[in-house]
Amino acid sequence: MKETSLAYAKINISLDVVSKMLDGYHNLRTIMQTISLSDEVTIECTPGKGIYIDSGKSYLPSDENNIAAKAARAFYGLTGIDGYSTHIKIKKNIPVCAGLGGGSTDGACVLKILDKIFETKLGRKKLEVLGNTFGSDVPFSIDGGTKLAEGRGEILFDLEPIPHAYVVLCKPSFSCSTPELFGYIKCEKIRARPDTDGIIKALEDRDLGGVARRMYNVFEDVLPNGKQTIDEIKSTLIDNYALGAVMTGSGSTVFGLFDNITKAQDAHKELSENYRDCFLVETIPNT
Ligand code: C5P
Repeated sequence: MKETSLAYAKINISLDVVSKMLDGYHNLRTIMQTISLSDEVTIECTPGKGIYIDSGKSYLPSDENNIAAKAARAFYGLTGIDGYSTHIKIKKNIPVCAGLGGGSTDGACVLKILDKIFETKLGRKKLEVLGNTFGSDVPFSIDGGTKLAEGRGEILFDLEPIPHAYVVLCKPSFSCSTPELFGYIKCEKIRARPDTDGIIKALEDRDLGGVARRMYNVFEDVLPNGKQTIDEIKSTLIDNYALGAVMTGSGSTVFGLFDNITKAQDAHKELSENYRDCFLVETIPNT
């Protein structure tokens, strides 16, 4: 039994940290969007035992710490299915530790593929709840599209799909640690927050410019280093007529939204002269 599927990256159109919860996690209010940058996940199940990961990348764990392995274990734990050797091959295209949800989308994709292979028909809600047991961004990646995420990221609201946009991504060479950045956030001291409701209204009005103008990520204000680089990338995107530009997730990738392919190509070309990890992709509806 063998299946292949694409696991799509996400961007955070806005990201607000509302409060700290008693368990140490943070209450978020973030609008997330699926984009066409993807990993390719292939799973082969044969009689036997064990979960095996092959990502072809030495810096990614190939053991049970890999989120894809956690997903497979969670699936077998819930369904009680036993007696299979599970080989997961991941062709990585999404940069890691980049704020693009690369690990989470692989985990979500593993759940969806296993659900298909074993015809368990768990459905979106059960897969989201299962995904939340091993990663805060996994529930979003089950269905994707344009969503508001609250709580740890598991309370999801479908939003009006974003009007189609070209997305230029640029990841500087440094990475940001998600737990470290959350550690720098002091909720009561946040001075500027995204206009999340304004973005939701702009989505309802199908006003891409109105969405892009309001994009904001509170993590940008607590970056311990690299803020200048983030600002330079944003400036390059805006100088090339991006409708808006912001850092995604806990960084370090910055993206700009464009309604014009030629301008997006120009921005991509200029950034590619200085940064290795640049991509020109587009928004896509739910998967
Ligand atoms: O759930 P996930 O493994 O993606 O989270 C990584 C880390 O980010 C957590 O260990 C936690 O420190 C932080 N986090 C948080 N609040 C969230 C999501 C993540 O504090 N809502």
